[in-house]
Amino acid sequence: MKALVIEHNGEPSAVVHWRDLPEPMPGPTEVRVRMLLAPVHPSDLHIIRGRFAPQRQPKLPASPGSEGVGIIDAVGSGVPRARVGERVVLLDVPGTWREQVISPADRAIAVPAAVSDEDAAQALINPMTAWAMTMVEHQLGRGDWLVQSAAGSTVGRFVLQIAKAQGFRTINLVRREEQVAEIRELGGDIVLCTADESWPEQLKKATGGNGIVRAIDCVAGRTGATLARQLAQNGRLLVYGALSSHRQSDPAAFEMPVFAPALVYSSAEVRGWFIYSWLGRQEVSEGGRMLRSLLDLIAEGRLKPPAARRYHVDDALEAFTAAEHAGHDAKPLLAFS
Ligand SMILES: NC(=O)c1ccc[n+]([C@@H]2O[C@H](COP(=O)([O-])OP(=O)(O)OC[C@H]3O[C@@H](n4cnc5c(N)ncnc54)[C@H](OP(=O)(O)O)[C@@H]3O)[C@@H](O)[C@H]2O)c1
Repeated sequence: MKALVIEHNGEPSAVVHWRDLPEPMPGPTEVRVRMLLAPVHPSDLHIIRGRFAPQRQPKLPASPGSEGVGIIDAVGSGVPRARVGERVVLLDVPGTWREQVISPADRAIAVPAAVSDEDAAQALINPMTAWAMTMVEHQLGRGDWLVQSAAGSTVGRFVLQIAKAQGFRTINLVRREEQVAEIRELGGDIVLCTADESWPEQLKKATGGNGIVRAIDCVAGRTGATLARQLAQNGRLLVYGALSSHRQSDPAAFEMPVFAPALVYSSAEVRGWFIYSWLGRQEVSEGGRMLRSLLDLIAEGRLKPPAARRYHVDDALEAFTAAEHAGHDAKPLLAFS
């Protein structure tokens, strides 16, 4: 079987290679999945560059890839034979950019027939991040307000769909003026463009001068710092990404300067949020239950992953470029067969 492999960290175009590897065999409680599609997320490229969470940097050589959909083509002695042929998504089984992946059987979650391969391939990380941050961590209810940055991101668009279904309202930040109308159309109540230097004042006005009660940010840098500075009394900001630091090599660019007096006087909270830490605190059965319920919402058309574009694995470099291209309109998916 073949796999995309990195032997060293570096620029994806230079260090990702398509290698022949021995066919893996599942252990007693495992299944082997013949991969169909796996997405290229910004975090996958971060891992390749060696700049992701140390506890999630794989020991090299390794295959990148953090989720995907495939078909079970072999099972271990302790797993029912009837599972062969089942279409599954993988619950936190890293290394999905390969033709065959070995997974614990309880982390291979069956996909309802109504869900397309494209949607299934992206059912875990971004939908669960959006759901867990808004409904579990922030516990948003009807009429509450949420401020979010990078509203045009995949996570941001899931948040907008959840907001519509659950009745909470959103103030959205985008970096390109063209996105303002689009995010409004998707249900964003207020949309501000950070290219307009007066956006911090506009944000203050949008919160009625009372500050931000609940926010999520994946840009960090000046954007995240501005959100932190505008937190209301006991307000809470979850920082779940640092897009402004991507592709940077200057460590100063990774910083998010927090204005201490504002934080102290408001007793506000700025907290990191990481799906893998969050999932790690759940039982596998609970993670599986949540993933099944997200798949059900997708099957019912109540949650719609973004448009996707397939790239044959031979064109992986094009998929990497697309994943980081400003204004990309489709999630790049690597196709393995
Ligand atoms: N902590 C976690 O557990 C977790 C889980 C899932 C995702 N994430 C993070 O969430 C972020 C979004 O992921 P995704 O898959 O949804 O991304 P995506 O679909 O590729 O979208 C990226 C979005 O971010 C915007 N963006 C990129 N660089 C930016 C910058 N420097 N300043 C402002 N906006 C910028 C892009 O705007 P344009 O449209 O203008 O290009 C685009 O809307 C990533 O940082 C990812 O690592 C974190």
